[in-house]
Amino acid sequence: MIQLEHICKTYEKHGAAVHALKDVDLRVEKGAFVAVTGPSGSGKTTLMNILGCLDRPDSGIYRLDGQTVAHLENAGAARLRNRKIGFVFQSFNLIGSMSALENVELPLVLRGVGRKVRREAALAALERVGLSQRSSHRPCELSGGQQQRVAIARVLAQAPPLILADEPTGNLDGASSRDILSVLRGLNGEGQTIVMITHDDSIAASAPIRMRMEAGRLK
Ligand SMILES: Nc1ncnc2c1ncn2[C@@H]1O[C@H](COP(=O)(O)OP(=O)(O)O)[C@@H](O)[C@H]1O
Ligand SMILES: [Mg+2]
Repeated sequence: MIQLEHICKTYEKHGAAVHALKDVDLRVEKGAFVAVTGPSGSGKTTLMNILGCLDRPDSGIYRLDGQTVAHLENAGAARLRNRKIGFVFQSFNLIGSMSALENVELPLVLRGVGRKVRREAALAALERVGLSQRSSHRPCELSGGQQQRVAIARVLAQAPPLILADEPTGNLDGASSRDILSVLRGLNGEGQTIVMITHDDSIAASAPIRMRMEAGRLK
């Protein structure tokens, strides 16, 4: 699913070079669930941005689901991102004035999917995260863990080959974090490929494959 070879990324900060990624190699097979941990400043977000086609490496090769990414123009990268990747963020990024169902449907509205088909897809996605009873609730009427489950359902409705989760439990208490992890593990059990970034080793421990970023290197 993912193949990174010799990926380097350097930023300039106050005139000094910051080597955020140093010769990073990574392979993630289809159906894998990988957690990437590491201290603050080790390069996790930089790695995530490159995996998500939100940023480009200075050098190295990135293949996503058989396609080489590095040389794509912005529009090409955006298309690839839309088709292949679902993002789950620390802040759930739901729209407060919309119900859970409408939030999950929104990306399908933007894709031009017809009303009936997108409603069915959204309901099925809410069911998969155990929230079919809450479809008419607005985000403010849901707990943090439930809001994150809606955000995951929104990703599922788009059926992306890859889910990238950046600190998905960063804003949640212990019980809600475990809840989200069990949802992610369940999806992975159904074959979903997931890469999760976290600074929390106890969260990472529940992923079958664990890697660690340290000072721009992946171990
Ligand atoms: N846009 C940027 N400009 C300059 N330096 C950056 C930028 N983004 C990240 N960095 C630096 O790159 C390093 C890695 O950052 P980051 O990928 O955000 O690490 P993490 O997510 O593990 O905390 C840090 O030293 C950070 O200060
Ligand atoms: Mg970060």
